[in-house]
Amino acid sequence: MAIERLPGFRDFYPEPLPHPDVWSADARQYIFEKWRTIAKRYGFREYDGPPLEPLELFTTKSGEEIVKQLFDFTDKGERHIALRPEMTPTLARMVAAHERNYKKPIKWFAIPQLFRYEKPQKGRLREHFQFNADLIGETDPAADAELIALVIDTLRAFGLTAEDFVLRLSSRNAWQEFFQRGGGVAAREYDFFQIIDKLERTAPEESEKKLAELGFSLAAVNDFIAKGTPTQELQAILDNLAARGLRDFVKVDYQVIRGLAYYTGVVFEAFDRKGELRAIAGGGRYNGLVKLISNGKVDLPALGFGMGDVVLLELLKARGLLPKFDAPMFVYALVEDETLRPATLKLVHDLRAAGHAVEYPLTPAKPDKQFKRAQELKVAFTARLDSSDYVRLRNLKTREEIVAGVNDVGNHLRCTP
Ligand code: HAM
Repeated sequence: MAIERLPGFRDFYPEPLPHPDVWSADARQYIFEKWRTIAKRYGFREYDGPPLEPLELFTTKSGEEIVKQLFDFTDKGERHIALRPEMTPTLARMVAAHERNYKKPIKWFAIPQLFRYEKPQKGRLREHFQFNADLIGETDPAADAELIALVIDTLRAFGLTAEDFVLRLSSRNAWQEFFQRGGGVAAREYDFFQIIDKLERTAPEESEKKLAELGFSLAAVNDFIAKGTPTQELQAILDNLAARGLRDFVKVDYQVIRGLAYYTGVVFEAFDRKGELRAIAGGGRYNGLVKLISNGKVDLPALGFGMGDVVLLELLKARGLLPKFDAPMFVYALVEDETLRPATLKLVHDLRAAGHAVEYPLTPAKPDKQFKRAQELKVAFTARLDSSDYVRLRNLKTREEIVAGVNDVGNHLRCTP
């Protein structure tokens, strides 16, 4: 039996795609390029880390849910290790190790491939790529606004508008205040956050029961969400975004609280407006993580977000926002006379060295087949050697043909975009 790929993993093929079940390597590249472009526009520098990390890096503070989903094993050196399910602990480790060498705030981004042993379903796989951008060393809400603006502008770069997506802005501080005001016990705070996180996906009776155990009623929780009064900090973020003309992209929504354990303040998630898909991106403040991971040595406030490629691609497909991908070649060198193959190889090589995309038949082929191939590749020109000194250059669009000296071909091509 043929060996098949693992469930929840993807094969990326060049377009046109041979089967609806495979993923587009071209679309992936398109998404990565946009992520990089916009991150750089906002002054973020690219970093990366290892895909394998010591298991404790993730068990320390990511939270139960992600720990249950780890791909972990013991390596040949008896180390207990895990494939990274998220990038934030690695970033915290890297920053803590060398933060003195970098001016604050540190603004870094990465595009890691992440691994989570989830039940594969629409929008959730066992492997995905995630655009991460994080800002370290600034507590002012101006930093939160800057990061949220980056989320919005990244999605806008794909042609998405305020009608396509919304950024739901919330704050663990607001919930903490609610929890404390209601007499909640500090030790149970994270349990409370977990109930809020699952509110949308849980039957009301069940949430009611769980909240009652902590001394709260679902009605009070729902009322707090419905009011959605922004905290001072959230208001500062809203004003900052309004000044940029981005106010329409954000709404205060206390239903969002985020699942990961390390978040400490502002949290947010980007969703499609129709609410058909899972979160496109999520993030927030994690002011205690660098300290925790560095064992108290380095204490820096931080915030960031992760935007996955899976949901984003689903949304772009649904809105018809993916461009057509092909990789047109510029020149096809025809080899009709095999005695001229060495000279043709030299021509091909020179043109490639000059930066042109050039194809040619690897083995002898009939002229009509070669020409057909040139058309399939959507080349602008065919080049055929008449002798080892002269080249017949044909513009396939205008059908114009000229004869040029082999060393002069580049000049003729340069004039054509
Ligand atoms: P997260 O919410 O776990 O956050 O993931 C962020 C985004 O990654 C999600 O909104 C989703 O689009 C995508 N994603 C997550 N898991 C999967 C999956 N199994 N399959 C497909 N897509 C997935 C984090 O990971 C945080 N570390 C983000 C962060 C960075 N917070 C601060 N800095």
